[in-house]
Amino acid sequence: MTRSNALSMMPVPPVAARVGDTLDIVATPSLTVDLDAFDANLAAMAKFAARHGVALRPHAKAHKSSAIARRQVEAGAVGVCCQKLSEAYPFAAAGISSIHISNEFVGVDKLAMAVELASHVRLSVCVDSLPQVTALGEAASRAGVSIDVLAEIDAGQHRCGVTSEGALLTLVDGIAAQSALRFTGIQAYQGGLQHIVEYAARKAEAERTAECVARYLRALEARGLRCGIVTGSGTGTVEFDATSGVFTELQPGSYLFMDGDYGDNEWTGALRWHHSLFVLSTVMSAMRPGAAVCDVGLKGLAVDSGLPRSVKWLDGSSDLTLRYVSANDEHGMLEAQNAPDADTSQVIGKRLCLPPGHCDPTANLYDEYVCHRNGRVEEIWPIDARGLSR
Ligand SMILES: Cc1ncc(COP(=O)(O)O)c(C=O)c1O
Repeated sequence: MTRSNALSMMPVPPVAARVGDTLDIVATPSLTVDLDAFDANLAAMAKFAARHGVALRPHAKAHKSSAIARRQVEAGAVGVCCQKLSEAYPFAAAGISSIHISNEFVGVDKLAMAVELASHVRLSVCVDSLPQVTALGEAASRAGVSIDVLAEIDAGQHRCGVTSEGALLTLVDGIAAQSALRFTGIQAYQGGLQHIVEYAARKAEAERTAECVARYLRALEARGLRCGIVTGSGTGTVEFDATSGVFTELQPGSYLFMDGDYGDNEWTGALRWHHSLFVLSTVMSAMRPGAAVCDVGLKGLAVDSGLPRSVKWLDGSSDLTLRYVSANDEHGMLEAQNAPDADTSQVIGKRLCLPPGHCDPTANLYDEYVCHRNGRVEEIWPIDARGLSR
């Protein structure tokens, strides 16, 4: 037998789940989506945006899955946002015809992707500097494509975006000088507000952001420039931004999954979200009283926004309440709450549902969502933009 024949006969790992499986036989760790909760979140945001007459362009970086983006567009979204150009490719290939890159980019590799994408979809991008505008305009012109351009303003986050009305006007003049670019509006995303826990404080800060955006809009209007699109917002402030009178388009992403970090926010307004994303894990060791170990750590669970806030038994078959206390590469360390001497050996082999602290980087760790209703797998959605971060 030749070496290449031997290699082609090598077994490959079995699939994690099949449609029709129950969650008690799905491989662990797996990233699971509770479809009842997911559908409710999907419909609530679509209805909310429609009721307020604002466009919904959800952020696809939260889920990185064209199967989900298609559902968002079917529910009324005008398209999706991507944070990176390479991330946009699977969405374009899946037929999402309007994609906004909600981020600045520079370099020949990025320009090549921008003009390629613009020849397949309606592409809009963010800019905040003249060299970026010039390079983009020249690349688009050479490629014979046109690109919608939104000038990003710093609405208080102090990340990207121009920091004065004068700088915005200079940038808009630079865009107008490029025949292959169309100035279509501004982006004002204020990420720093999304996780302000207290509802009233979050609302007050969102109102201050809207005032800041309005100042920039007045400067444009004074020059006879109207913005077709004013885009921004996230799950935490969407409720306020929709009624601000300045935003025409909303970019929330996490609302579909409602991670632990967002779960910590106070939701006393009109919108309520349900946790739909859980990492399914198995307890695989419990050698010490009051402690146990499960099979998901850092490689299956992003912990930048904290550890899972709760540990739920898949089948409710144990009375023991566990806390997820630390993550190693491939192990999750669990402790019995208020029961340091508890005999935990009874839970070896039992399954847990862990809500991730932060959905975006957790989704980026998996190849697929195992989607179930009442514990039975209905669909498996590839996370086809996973790892596409260029
Ligand atoms: C530019 C931009 N828009 C929208 C979002 C979506 O925010 P969220 O997932 O908090 O709803 C983000 C998230 O970081 C973002 O960076």
